Amino acid sequence: MPIWHKSQLTKVALNQNTTSKMGRVLITGASGLLGRALIQEFQGTTGWEVLGLAFSRSGGKLKKVDLRDQETVKKTVQEFKPDVVIHSAVKKSEAACVLNVELAITVAQAAADVGAFLVYVSTDYVFDGRSPPYKVTDRPNPLNKYGISKLAGEMMALEIAKDGAVLRVPMLYGPVETVDESAVTVLFRAVQNSEKTANLSDYERRYPTHVGDIAAVCRQLSEKRLLDSSLHGVFHWSADEEMTKYMMAVTMAEVLKLPSAHLVADKEPFGATQRPYDAHLDTN
Ligand SMILES: NC(=O)c1ccc[n+]([C@@H]2O[C@H](COP(=O)([O-])OP(=O)(O)OC[C@H]3O[C@@H](n4cnc5c(N)ncnc54)[C@H](OP(=O)(O)O)[C@@H]3O)[C@@H](O)[C@H]2O)c1
Repeated sequence: MPIWHKSQLTKVALNQNTTSKMGRVLITGASGLLGRALIQEFQGTTGWEVLGLAFSRSGGKLKKVDLRDQETVKKTVQEFKPDVVIHSAVKKSEAACVLNVELAITVAQAAADVGAFLVYVSTDYVFDGRSPPYKVTDRPNPLNKYGISKLAGEMMALEIAKDGAVLRVPMLYGPVETVDESAVTVLFRAVQNSEKTANLSDYERRYPTHVGDIAAVCRQLSEKRLLDSSLHGVFHWSADEEMTKYMMAVTMAEVLKLPSAHLVADKEPFGATQRPYDAHLDTN
């Protein structure tokens, strides 16, 4: 089966034996790739009252809140009184790295003020990729600005919301609004254009993981925390299939019955930005 047509819950049957408990969850970044899956997961589960925050893509049931506005964030959280706050918002640019740490601080403080369980969504890029698989106890050593800022966000989040959680996840894919939204689906641009040779990295190892699985993990973590207030700390979730971008593109071509002769495997590290070679997360 092609990996993007199935759920990848190969290790744990996530939906078994979990008792649903009434709770309120506030989700930042609810208009994003992961945020939309989180909204769907919690809304689709009996007992959860959900508030999703967005910014430029607010509307419908998503409340417009600029997370840079500390007072509004605080007021929104105090009015909703969430049991759980999932911080999924991120600004994806090198220039926004400091801002992302500031947003983490703002959200963590607002969650801590109302005694909510904070889940800070982080990344495998906090590791250097030299000695996988990485356990939650392994020492992070990010190679680039994004990884450094996510690690700083983790540290600030757990410093402020002391009994909160960090959930590290790898490269994500899932239903997209445009193919450019995910580092996986964006490969379709190269696949589709069979007139043009495309050099794709066949060097760095990646573990593309479906946002629906991460959303289910977040819900389960939240439900378990409502039952057991001692649950906190750092968690990892990852799919198991190892792929390079080149392998993803070739698989995509096969699934879509498109030509793949124009896709060329690039065996060298790609681009100026340093990226981890293999930051596989240990999910034991
Ligand atoms: N995507 C991946 O492959 C990947 C891999 C590892 C870890 N992660 C982590 O997973 C989380 C979710 O990533 P994603 O790919 O789903 O992100 P995304 O699709 O880029 O969505 C980003 C979200 O952040 C919101 N946002 C940005 N600036 C904001 C602001 N000033 N105020 C309020 N909201 C703001 C956006 O709202 P609007 O669009 O409405 O403005 C959007 O909902 C992030 O923490 C990311 O670091 C992602």
